[in-house]
Amino acid sequence: MLDNTATTSTKSKMSARDVKVFYGEKQAIKGVSIDIDMDNVVAFIGPSGCGKSTFLRTLNRMNDTIPIARVEGDITLDGENIYSSSMDVVQLRARVGMVFQKPNPFPKSIYDNVAYGPRIHGLAPNKAELDQIVENSLVRAGLWNEVKDRLQDSGTALSGGQQQRLCIARAIAVDPEVILMDEPCSALDPIATAKIEELIHELRGRYAIVIVTHNMQQAARVSQKTAFFHLGTMVEYGDTSDIFTNPREERTRDYITGRYG
Ligand SMILES: Nc1ncnc2c1ncn2[C@@H]1O[C@H](COP(=O)(O)OP(=O)(O)OP(=O)(O)O)[C@@H](O)[C@H]1O
Ligand SMILES: [Mg+2]
Repeated sequence: MLDNTATTSTKSKMSARDVKVFYGEKQAIKGVSIDIDMDNVVAFIGPSGCGKSTFLRTLNRMNDTIPIARVEGDITLDGENIYSSSMDVVQLRARVGMVFQKPNPFPKSIYDNVAYGPRIHGLAPNKAELDQIVENSLVRAGLWNEVKDRLQDSGTALSGGQQQRLCIARAIAVDPEVILMDEPCSALDPIATAKIEELIHELRGRYAIVIVTHNMQQAARVSQKTAFFHLGTMVEYGDTSDIFTNPREERTRDYITGRYG
């Protein structure tokens, strides 16, 4: 068996060791170890049902919201165990933000969508600073120019691609360290997709970013590291260029060449 999981490095923002996830009796993740650093966008690829979303959700404890889900193993953020009883889960989810497949803005104004997190986390002492956080987040999410004159309009009135950038702005507004994206472009047209990909490039280095995608070209375009999942295991993890041109495992090659999936 190949040991292609990186050993713990001081640069790792997040580390998972031998993570297992069960839904009731059924085991969905069978011992996954991975390191995620600040410098690289990591893509998770693999056939439907192999556990990409399940594993992604372990990284900010979103599986806690699924009653039958149980997580084993160790996951650390800056060396701190995120499953320890002293971990504040609300705080954790601000530090490790998530963007979902279907854009899910709150039924509130564009402004309030972005201001929501900073308000509940007490990040802005006054209105002027909150305004600034909202503007900066929308700028960074590449949405400011499109919405600056309509901040009081409902977030749900935006186009799908704009809504997804609004959700990214909302995640950014609380100054996260890690951003998890679960197929963020699958509901978007090619132009909106290109905008999100451009945004991922711009956000790289400022946040650790993990993106689940079924789109091989997208994985190749946006990521520097790729993890291939299959049947609840992580088969291979390495430089994206190697995974796509010279995978070590036959199962990876079969998947990226479209033999199954
Ligand atoms: N809430 C849940 N309750 C029970 N089983 C679940 C739940 N969520 C996922 N599973 C099961 O866990 C396994 C992994 O599912 P998961 O959604 O993580 O796969 P995925 O790789 O993200 O798939 P896709 O590419 O289709 O999104 C599947 O067998 C799925 O049926
Ligand atoms: Mg999924």
